[in-house]
Amino acid sequence: MNTSCIIRGMGHCVPDSVLTNADFERMVETNDEWIVSRTGIRERHVALNGETCVDLCHGASVAALEKAGMTAEELTHVIVATFSPDAVIPSAACMLSHRLGISGRMSMDVSAACSGFLYALETARALIALHPQARVLVAACDIVSSRVDYTDRGTCILFGDGAGAVVLTADAPGLSGGRVLDVLVASDGAVGDLLTVKGGGSGTPYKLGDTIRRDFFVEMNGREVYKHAVRAMSSVCEELLTRHGLTKDDVDVLIPHQANLRIVEAVGKRLDIPESKVFTNLQKYGNTSAASVPLALSEAVAEGFVKPGHLVLLGTFGGGFTWGSALVKF
Ligand code: COA
Repeated sequence: MNTSCIIRGMGHCVPDSVLTNADFERMVETNDEWIVSRTGIRERHVALNGETCVDLCHGASVAALEKAGMTAEELTHVIVATFSPDAVIPSAACMLSHRLGISGRMSMDVSAACSGFLYALETARALIALHPQARVLVAACDIVSSRVDYTDRGTCILFGDGAGAVVLTADAPGLSGGRVLDVLVASDGAVGDLLTVKGGGSGTPYKLGDTIRRDFFVEMNGREVYKHAVRAMSSVCEELLTRHGLTKDDVDVLIPHQANLRIVEAVGKRLDIPESKVFTNLQKYGNTSAASVPLALSEAVAEGFVKPGHLVLLGTFGGGFTWGSALVKF
């Protein structure tokens, strides 16, 4: 059974509108210095013009298909990682397939918050192992702004909207792209209440006429999330390297979840990987949840930060809690 797969093309898409730290100074009691020193974030793209999850997935997917030299018609499976789909039903993946002009494929959403991309990647690997002819589209997108309370200064400054997408097939000699050597994902529901979006779920339903409550939006214990994120991301990256007999010196590029510059730096330090090998773009996008890692990977490749021959280590952490890592050889 062929279990190895390769990223044939990748793309990303963000909304046009930008919210800068100066914009937030006018919205809540905050300032640029506080935001930059605590998070590293300077601006984020936000769907102020009504862009939806499927809109951004579509933009990223078209770019990924173009890079892969494939048409949507060639796809066999469509997976979308998101916690903020356009609707509960139909799924974002069904809507994306339709937007791409295809039908008859398995199309499904994966929900793992900010770790969604690596969860979807692992799912795609399993599908390709089962169906070696599969050509799988994985799009990861969140319109976090649809679930952010813009009066809560503790959370609203952190997030942005965006999408990243990859097209995967079984590996074969002569193909170029990013060979997915391995993925390791995990979860722990015991600490799930530290980062939630509960309102509107069947546990906290809304009835017709109810006023939206705080629980409709992202709620979190920032300090606790910070500690868990650093610990989980570094240890899962270490575990994956060890599993392959690799050390930090074998890693050419580290792309951690773009939540916060201090978290990224702490993960780099724990792994003892120099800053020069760590890619960040959170300064201009904020935390885009499921899109964070593929958006960063897509940009890192496009900008030449990731070069042919590089071994890239991806790390992620999100609500659930969920976390994971992946090794991709370009
Ligand atoms: N501007 C100014 N002050 C703010 C603020 C803002 N936007 N947000 C919070 N504060 C205030 C707090 O009210 C608090 O004031 P107090 O001391 O008077 O109560 C003070 O700043 C310190 O808050 P604290 O929460 O201790 O700050 P921190 O150093 O932990 O930084 C985060 C806060 C949210 C930036 C940080 O905890 C973090 O990044 N956590 C991880 C969040 C994350 O990445 N979540 C997603 C993971 S997938």
